[in-house]
Amino acid sequence: MSERSVLHGDADLDRQASGDGRGSSNGQSATLSYDGRTTELPVIRGSEGEPAIDIGRLRAETGLITMDRGYMNTGSCLSAITFLDGERGILRYRGYPIEQLAEKSSFLEVAYLLTYGELPTRAQLEAWTSDVTHHTLIHEEMRRFFDSFPYDAHPMAVLASATVGLSTFYQDSHDPFDPAAVELTIQRLIAKLPTLAAWSFKKAIGQPYVYPRNDLDYAANLLHMMFAVPAEPYEVHPDVAKALDLLLILHADHEQNCSTSTVRLVGSSQVNLYASISAGISALWGPLHGGANEAVIRTLERIAADGGNVQKYIDKAKDPNHEFKLPGFGHRVYKNFDPRATIIKTAADRVLAATGADDQLYEIARQLEEVALHDEYFVKRKLYPNVDFYSGLIYRAIGFPKNMFTNCFAIGRLPGWIAQWKEMIGSADTKIGRPRQIYTGATARDYVPLEAR
Ligand code: CMC
Repeated sequence: MSERSVLHGDADLDRQASGDGRGSSNGQSATLSYDGRTTELPVIRGSEGEPAIDIGRLRAETGLITMDRGYMNTGSCLSAITFLDGERGILRYRGYPIEQLAEKSSFLEVAYLLTYGELPTRAQLEAWTSDVTHHTLIHEEMRRFFDSFPYDAHPMAVLASATVGLSTFYQDSHDPFDPAAVELTIQRLIAKLPTLAAWSFKKAIGQPYVYPRNDLDYAANLLHMMFAVPAEPYEVHPDVAKALDLLLILHADHEQNCSTSTVRLVGSSQVNLYASISAGISALWGPLHGGANEAVIRTLERIAADGGNVQKYIDKAKDPNHEFKLPGFGHRVYKNFDPRATIIKTAADRVLAATGADDQLYEIARQLEEVALHDEYFVKRKLYPNVDFYSGLIYRAIGFPKNMFTNCFAIGRLPGWIAQWKEMIGSADTKIGRPRQIYTGATARDYVPLEAR
């Protein structure tokens, strides 16, 4: 009896693909040989030609499941939202290159594009902006919610709690299949997340909560709620607001990353959108994901305090006996360069010039990048600066404390989470997410009474 299994792809078949977001099979298949039997598994392709073996029938036909730790090689859905080619450093939202959106668009326009699939007309953009702007206030009762946390609570914990907390105020809009309720929830979430994020910061530093200003644009309003105090006027620096808007655009979606997959998985249980987004915020918090921007600055500060010895930290990151990894380097998908990092690096130059922020850490970051890009360890493993490497420096130059960086990332990623959730809920193919496992624990045994143990 052969326990060996072989998968054969059909490499010669043309790479035609449908552009309808459902993938196309074109009659292709892969053959799996296992235990003396062969099984044909359909091969589907996306609109950019990426192939995948559909294993939906595998267990029923062979008794096998697939094992893929960390989902390194597993497609969980068909999606028409974001295209990412890690080898060529390509990122597109709904087909539009990130470089063009970064240069020409605005965050609210990108949020519309991700959520509804097309760039808005002028009238649609005005209506969308007005709708979002007029939901920025949070229920006054929610002020007390912030008061209940310890003064030094991490703003990501407060943001995740406050987001699911919103669901308690809007109990009539929980149904994920009610289009009007979903629409209202989307507007509320995009409008209110900056308010919740800014208030979690104000709470931490003991300043009064600052109410939104609907005459300001999205990024400027966030800066206002973060940095204004009732005692004196606060002027938003337009270059700073522009840089923040750019960061939000660059973070807006990144296909099936950890937090987005979390939003889809939690949402697949048909819980309300607030709960799904709150779960995504929690997933984003981790240092291997959105929390890396905070970790980058901590590392740069450590290097600065340690006399600026960049090589020492490069060596530490390379040491297999050491846990330390260089935050802001490496990516599961990008193995050439992260196009977002390229754009952010240019923006960092501009923001540091506009704010006159001290650039000692920026200098250390540049040295780190320079050394790493020429180091065999990093080159061999294709480890390049990712989006988080320079974004923390911009947030810091703007005046955000380190523990607020990931809150800003969450505000940026929100439209992507929403678009992915909406696509998942709207797809007839969606089933509750429920991976399988291979059990490795004790086999059946009889209960032993306490006195006999
Ligand atoms: N510093 C040193 N070595 C690294 C690093 C790093 N930053 N990243 C990966 N490696 C090594 C890793 O030790 C492994 O080496 P070996 O083959 O000798 O065992 C090899 O490179 C492959 O790494 P991996 O951990 O198997 O790759 P992964 O795809 O599982 O992890 C990653 C990707 C982003 C979690 C990882 O590169 C990492 O931990 N980077 C630092 C944290 C970070 O910057 N995260 C933000 C990611 S981008 C934005 C986001 O997702 O929010």
